Amino acid sequence: MQRVAIVDPLDATREPLRNLLLGVDSVWLEAECARYEFFFDVINQSNPDVVIVSLDADRSKALQLIAQLGSEYPDMPILAVSNDDKAILQAMQRGAKFFLTQPVVLEELLQALRRLPDRGGGGGGGSSDSDEPGKTPRRQTQSSQVIAILGSRGGIGCTSIAVNLGCSLAQDPDNNVALVDLDLALGDADVALDLIPDHTLADVALNIERLDMAFLRRALIKHEATGLSLLAHPMQMQDVGLIHEDHLQRLLNLLRATYTHLLLDLSKGLTPTDLTGLRMADTILLVAQLELSSLRNVVRMLLTLGNEEGLSDKVKVIMNRVGSDFMEGDISLQKAEETIGKPIYWQIPNDARSMISSRNAGVPLIQHAPKSKVQSALTGLAGALSGKNNGQAAPEAAKKRRWF
Ligand SMILES: Nc1ncnc2c1ncn2[C@@H]1O[C@H](COP(=O)(O)OP(=O)(O)OP(=O)(O)O)[C@@H](O)[C@H]1O
Ligand SMILES: [Mg+2]
Repeated sequence: MQRVAIVDPLDATREPLRNLLLGVDSVWLEAECARYEFFFDVINQSNPDVVIVSLDADRSKALQLIAQLGSEYPDMPILAVSNDDKAILQAMQRGAKFFLTQPVVLEELLQALRRLPDRGGGGGGGSSDSDEPGKTPRRQTQSSQVIAILGSRGGIGCTSIAVNLGCSLAQDPDNNVALVDLDLALGDADVALDLIPDHTLADVALNIERLDMAFLRRALIKHEATGLSLLAHPMQMQDVGLIHEDHLQRLLNLLRATYTHLLLDLSKGLTPTDLTGLRMADTILLVAQLELSSLRNVVRMLLTLGNEEGLSDKVKVIMNRVGSDFMEGDISLQKAEETIGKPIYWQIPNDARSMISSRNAGVPLIQHAPKSKVQSALTGLAGALSGKNNGQAAPEAAKKRRWF
């Protein structure tokens, strides 16, 4: 929790800044002051982790205040805000270490807060409007993992894996997990979770200019039983075109500030938004099955992703529906690994009964079939991706390879 104090005599800029800060889970707005003259005393009493000084109401008073704060509290980061580059330069000369230009936008504010040194302030109070009672709000410095789920053909299991991996990750109380349904035209993560969202990605795109945390929180719907949040695909197919790559980039940067894990259920079209998702991902789970057309596509996709620096290194191949005689024919896991030239990172067993009944009921596996092998493989995958395996299912590939 970063305890922040702001001073800005101008209501027109102080109020929007306050509203942005109130929306950030990891910020506690310790003090808000409308007079430069009083701010020093406010800081004396509240001892915040960071101060934000807006320069534009009265530059000379603001600069004097910054100089005074800089000499009295040399370790306290001062963030100067102005619409004038010259004023910002003067503030930096007097001891401000960080700056923001007016009008302050959420992403830049979050970036600036992320860069601040940790003063270990002890974090009094709590988040002003966190929607996660009982959960510790995330520090800005805590990293967030973006996991894109990419299919090697239609119906390969991406949505099943995205939804159930999301629910499994959300079981860890340290995690705050969101799934973004980027299968914009035909997505069905909402159906898999039996959720009827009030808002979708289309609303986010339409409001992209005035996006703040409060709006974003409303745009996501939470699956109460598991804790997974969902940002749904547009309900009207004609709204698919509203969502552009830069919207997605902005959105994911903002969601990273709140969620420890962001899962992206991509379409099979390798559309511009899919590519943005792949670029922004830390990990790409490429879902395959032990059959010819899927494996051939894996090879083609790895080649294509290899054309752009950094993409193919992030790929982990997930073999879905392992153990299905119908699928596998005579293709072994070893043969598949040789063909794709990459190890299989994880195997998900074939379990049509659990999977299909869970999908039809709109209830994730963790509730519907918690003891099933397929859920245990997904729990293991969640642990492996988080770097905590707690002795749960070892990667199936390792076990099976011996077996073959
Ligand atoms: N491990 C599994 N065992 C048995 N059935 C599975 C498994 N994984 C997925 N399925 C089934 O395969 C079908 C397709 O799965 P899913 O919708 O998750 O794939 P998808 O890649 O998201 O498809 P789409 O291309 O339509 O987006 C579903 O009926 C699902 O129940
Ligand atoms: Mg799908």
